[in-house]
Amino acid sequence: MADIVETPRTPTGCEGLDRMLRGGLVDGYCTVVEGSPGTGKTTLGLQFLVEGCLRGEPGIAITFEEFPEQYYDNAEQLGWDLRKFEEQGLLKIQFSDPISFLEGLQDIDGHVADLVDGMGAKRILVDSVSHFERLTNDPGTLRRIETDLVHALKREGLTSILLKENPHVLGGWDKGDNRVAFIADALILLRYIELESEIKRGLVILKMRGSDHDKEIRQYVIKEKGLVLGEPFQGVAGLFVGTARGADKN
Ligand SMILES: Nc1ncnc2c1ncn2[C@@H]1O[C@H](COP(=O)(O)OP(=O)(O)OP(=O)(O)O)[C@@H](O)[C@H]1O
Ligand SMILES: [Mg+2]
Repeated sequence: MADIVETPRTPTGCEGLDRMLRGGLVDGYCTVVEGSPGTGKTTLGLQFLVEGCLRGEPGIAITFEEFPEQYYDNAEQLGWDLRKFEEQGLLKIQFSDPISFLEGLQDIDGHVADLVDGMGAKRILVDSVSHFERLTNDPGTLRRIETDLVHALKREGLTSILLKENPHVLGGWDKGDNRVAFIADALILLRYIELESEIKRGLVILKMRGSDHDKEIRQYVIKEKGLVLGEPFQGVAGLFVGTARGADKN
């Protein structure tokens, strides 16, 4: 039987997360990073692309954000000169709208395929797939869009991170709004956690197909160069439903 520890990995650039993942994301996997506003989704996504640049693995960021300058500026605040990586041919930041992006994805000779062929991209970040939810009210259509997206990224041989917004600030999970989590190979949640009158941030890996991974919820902070993971939360229940309390205080 193949040793799963030796499955080729794509390190995320977040050391603590890579340890939790047994070395990184599995090559070719599609990972959803789901989180509340401001929890660091874009930061973790860029950290993954920058790590690729540093390893000579080119990457693409597809963003539906409306202000390109702000995207570069925010990255600069985190210590990343994205334009420099673009000049070196290691990164392409594509500011798009969801409809044009999806059109370019369907076609095997489409825009994303061109980018992959042109720059030899290995990694891709989609910031964020929540924009597709605004294109349709029909769950079947949305599921088809999301399935086509994941299949197209795999067809191109890309290891991908899809960001997904969670509208709840503390805890919660929108009913019927988690389809993409089933399609993806791996699912990571980022959350604010209210604990002893403080708001902390916590990360958990909910699933990773065909691989072992750490199951605990770890604290993290955002610093220059991205997310830094700390210790697991100990002896606390209800962290991810917004009702954290000492587990022994039932
Ligand atoms: N240089 C920095 N040093 C410390 N913290 C930072 C730095 N830059 C950003 N942050 C923190 O990261 C947070 C935003 O991170 P990011 O934009 O990655 O979140 P997000 O989950 O993508 O947000 P949104 O849901 O709005 O897209 C900020 O609110 C701030 O707390
Ligand atoms: Mg963001």
